Amino acid sequence: MLSLLLLAGSRLVLGGVLAARDAAPVGPFGLYAYGGGITGAQVFYSHDVAYIGDQMQMDDDEAAPVVFTTGPNDALVGNPDIKSSKSIPSWSNKAFFVPKSTASSHRVGFTSKISDPDDDDDDADTQGFVFYGATALHKSADNTLHGLWSAVPTFSQKIWALQWNVTGGDVSESVSVTLRSTPPARPFDEV
Ligand SMILES: *[C@@H]1O[C@H](CO)[C@@H](O)[C@H](O)[C@H]1NC(C)=O
Repeated sequence: MLSLLLLAGSRLVLGGVLAARDAAPVGPFGLYAYGGGITGAQVFYSHDVAYIGDQMQMDDDEAAPVVFTTGPNDALVGNPDIKSSKSIPSWSNKAFFVPKSTASSHRVGFTSKISDPDDDDDDADTQGFVFYGATALHKSADNTLHGLWSAVPTFSQKIWALQWNVTGGDVSESVSVTLRSTPPARPFDEV
């Protein structure tokens, strides 16, 4: 049985037995943020940090929208979408991560190193990404599912940093978002 509780905005906590995996997206897919006035801004890569929005506004030739495939232990492996990148990025096969619940950082990003759940020194959790329908959630070490994505404003009105488990006092002006594998009906940068 699935019990779904919506807490404070789009912060999501799921309990019970979840048959989420059946609905996981297949093939390479993008992830798009929705909520707080953000209407399907795609996750992109820059300097190992996950951003959402318009990668063209980032002063980084390596910046590119990310296409994901699923890996072992529910990892998400990212590669640049060279059709819409600024130039030809040199990075490939980067593991997507959220900070572990014990980490003080809220940064969501990409790493070449697949984390070890038992390594206390490693603050990045690269495993346990599951989908409820098209919605991306993360299963933490205690087996609970969370969708604690937030968008934090940057220098550009069309770029937000994607963060995890941000609480009110941490970062002002952040908005809760959901991350979905479904692209918006109209491309974000044309809205
Ligand atoms: C979120 O952060 C709090 C501390 O601020 C921590 O106690 C909690 O475990 C974190 N939750 C997740 C799912 O990381």
